[in-house]
Parts: sequence; C-alpha cells; structure tokens
Amino acid sequence: MNTITAAITAVGAYLPEYVLTNQILETMVDTNDEWITSRTGIKERRILKGEKLGTSYMCIKAAENLIQKSGIDPSEIDLVLVSTTTPDMPVAATSVYVATQIGAVNAFAFDIQAACSGFLYGMSAASAYIQSGRYKKVLLIGGDKMSSIIDYTDRATCIIFGDGAGAVLFEPNYEGLGFQDEYLRSDGIGREYLKIDAGGSILPSSKETVENRQHYVFQDGKTVFKYAVTGMADVGEKIMQRNHLTKEDINWLVPHQANRRIIDATAERMGVDESKVLINIERYGNTTSGTLPLLLHDFEHKLQKGDNLIFAAFGGGFTWGAVYLKWAYNTNKN
Ligand code: UT7
Repeated sequence: MNTITAAITAVGAYLPEYVLTNQILETMVDTNDEWITSRTGIKERRILKGEKLGTSYMCIKAAENLIQKSGIDPSEIDLVLVSTTTPDMPVAATSVYVATQIGAVNAFAFDIQAACSGFLYGMSAASAYIQSGRYKKVLLIGGDKMSSIIDYTDRATCIIFGDGAGAVLFEPNYEGLGFQDEYLRSDGIGREYLKIDAGGSILPSSKETVENRQHYVFQDGKTVFKYAVTGMADVGEKIMQRNHLTKEDINWLVPHQANRRIIDATAERMGVDESKVLINIERYGNTTSGTLPLLLHDFEHKLQKGDNLIFAAFGGGFTWGAVYLKWAYNTNKN
C-alpha cells in the first residue's frame, strides 16, 4: 500500500529559566496558592525575561533542540509553520525569521493564529501538506510569550498563563502511522469572552488604549470555562465514535493545558483513565500554542510506536477540536 500518512518523527522544546510560582503571585495580586491550585491545578509557570526577546527566541531554541536531537539537516526542511498568538511583531511573520535563524534556507514559512487551538490546527495543516505528497519535511512550532500580553494586576488572567515553546517534525509514513483523523470547529461568538481589544484594525493603538489597559488579554473565565468543558469533551467523544475507538483503544489523551478541571472533565466524558492523560499544567500553566508540543516533549519517553493518541484543545475565538494520531517511533531513553 502506497498511501502517505503524516507522522511526527521528532520533538523539541524550550522553556525559559525564570519560574513564577503561586507564592510569588501572592505578593503581586490578591490571590493564594490554595485557590490557584484547586481552581486550575497550576503551581508555577515559566516567564521569558530579557530585553528584546520575543516568541521567536523560544521557537528557535525549541527547533534547535529538535534538530540537535534528531540530527536532521535544516536545509532539508520544506516548510516552517509557527503557531502563535504573540508574534514578535504584527507585521513580518515570526515563522519567517525563525526559519532563517535555524538554517532552514530552502523552506517557506508562515504563521498560524488560532489562540489555544493553534497548534492543533497547525497539525492539520502540516499533515495535509505531507499527505499531498508535495513536501517531505514540515516543521511545526507552537510558542507563546503570554507574559507579553498579560496584565499582572489582573488576578483572573495572570495566574493562568506562562511562556514556552515546542516543536515537532512531520514526515511521510508508509506504514499507516501518524495523522489519522481530525474534527476541527470554530464559532465567532467566542470573540466577546476572550480577546485583546486594542492594537488591531478595529481599535489601533493610541495613548488612550494604553492608559485604559486595552492591550492586555481580557477573559470572561466562567463563560470560557463552560464552553471549553463542553467543547473539548464533545470533540473527544466525536473523534472516538468516528474512528470506532473504545476507551481501551486510546493509549494517551493529549489535552490542551488550560485548567486541570477542563482536562479532567474531558477525560471523564471520553472514559479515558487518569493514568493515560498527559498533564504538565502544574509546572507551566497555559502556554497557549505551546501546551501540546510541550506535553509530547515531556512524555516522549513513554510513547510507543503504534500508540493511539487523541489531542484535544479549546481556545479563544472560539476555536476547538480533536486530532487522532498514531505515534510512529520509540525513544531510546531509559
Ligand atoms: O486556554 C484558553 C481558554 N481558557 C480557558 O479555558 C480558561 C477557562 N476558565 C477558567 O479556567 C476559570 O474560569 C478560571 C480559572 C479563569 C477562574 O476559575 P472559576 O472557578 O471560574 O472562578 P470565577 O471566575 O467564577 O471566580 C470565583 C471567585 C470570584 O469571587 P466571588 O465573586 O465568588 O467572591 C473571583 O473574584 O474567585 C475569585 N477569584 C480569585 N480568587 C483568588 C478570581 N480569580 C481569583 C484568584 N485568586 N486568582
């Protein structure tokens, strides 16, 4: 059989050194470790410090980590996709700069923006390019410097988000491994509940927008939570049904890390046992485009060739969806 599927063949990651703990947040806003832990599952998150360091810095580091681990020649990469909600700058795509910096001299590059579902949508795009037969190596990076758009006087958002980036390489597979199916959704009603008001074409930056703190993320947490719980569980269930997967068939659930309670609700509806759910939210918080590849990086040593993985995410927009993928390799780690 000659059908091409798109498999993940390598993973890399980068996390900034600075650790922002719940205890430090207690000194910044009116909150406490017990509230944050019980409501979100988060204990600490990483923050990128340093002047003039943006999302590209972390994406380059994550890609370099992948290149070093896999031994690939960056000049063989055909396409570099960067999923981010915090691009280096509004004009001049972050991915283009990243591609040049890592030596992907023969690649073209573009950015994907779909908030917390960006990496999931990126998996869809990367896989489609590979399955088309047109390209052989697609590097997909998910990274966000959320600290650049978070108001550290707003306790409703500053406790949730963190910075980080992860990268995966998609290549053709002829054994039927890799990307199997997707169920992707979006609904513009979500724009009211999770957004940055200013700095775009509706409300360009001005002295007033800065004074009114309109360049920071606004989130109606309760409403987003409600939609996220239903949305992620719905798509998880749907992708299982469509592919005739029972809970026993699923080896790993790879859920977006926004809130531990959303993850638990999704796993419960899908019937997936807690031991099969990949979780690192306690250490990184919500890194937006970074959550899914950071999970793959942290748990790569546990994933076995042929394992069935279900990815699920929900984010601003609203955007949400699920992807079913068969893992394609074993890692030589002990
Ligand atoms: O990844 C992108 C999509 N985003 C998400 O999926 C996030 C979805 N939302 C959430 O995760 C949750 O809604 C939050 C973690 C943001 C908030 O948790 P919640 O259980 O929905 O809390 P709440 O907003 O209903 O607030 C409950 C109470 C309020 O006090 P009163 O009105 O009951 O007296 C808040 O003022 O908790 C208060 N509160 C806090 N207290 C201590 C809100 N934030 C804090 C805080 N520390 N940081």
